[in-house]
Amino acid sequence: MKKLIVVNWKSNPSTLSEARTLARASDSKGVVIAPPYVYLQALSRTLKKAALASQDVFWQDGGAYTGEISASQLKNLKVKYVIIGHSERRRLGETDEVISKKVGAAVSRGLKVILCVGENWNIHRKGVAAAKRYVANQLKKDLRGINSLRFAIRDSLTIAYEPVWAISTNKGSRADTPKDAAQMITHIKRILDSRVLYGGSITPKNVKSFLSQPEIDGTLVGGASLKPEGIKKVIRLRNSL
Ligand code: PGA
Repeated sequence: MKKLIVVNWKSNPSTLSEARTLARASDSKGVVIAPPYVYLQALSRTLKKAALASQDVFWQDGGAYTGEISASQLKNLKVKYVIIGHSERRRLGETDEVISKKVGAAVSRGLKVILCVGENWNIHRKGVAAAKRYVANQLKKDLRGINSLRFAIRDSLTIAYEPVWAISTNKGSRADTPKDAAQMITHIKRILDSRVLYGGSITPKNVKSFLSQPEIDGTLVGGASLKPEGIKKVIRLRNSL
């Protein structure tokens, strides 16, 4: 099976026509595209091979919640995956408690969850043991919502390990090393029987070195997915493995 590539456009681009261009460049098997909510419907008609993801979901299924989008609404748009707990949302105040509710709501409505975890620089510099403890704790808290549900969750859950300090838009960032990323991913797999991706400054230059680690099941790409030529290259390199 091909390793998975998830592209996260974050709050980009600003027009539908640019979104269509980017989507066409990424439209391949084994690719999941996470555009802003406003493009989901149009892109569900454009895409032929890639699957669609949303970048978030609300934990209640409809009701008086201004501005929120429910799991059922996404499911009805043929959205297959949802990213939950991205560090950029955590930084804006999203707690593990809210994340666990979102995970529960998404899984119970039949969406596949891509749960983001990862330590920030302050924890990272305390050493490997501290980072491992932190990530284990995030997983425990964030998955509380589905522990109580009797689902075969292996197929519904993908973890994205994204060391916060390695995300390209964070000041002073640089990608983790493939070996260290693989070590953390092995740790996550000991806790949880699930697919684990690596995300954090993935580019056409380094994607092969990460994806050739057997423990790494795929990648979550941010910045590099906003350039059609760049993402095409990333996908080509993944296909060549
Ligand atoms: P990056 O972003 O590839 O730009 O580092 C990854 C992410 O935040 O998902």
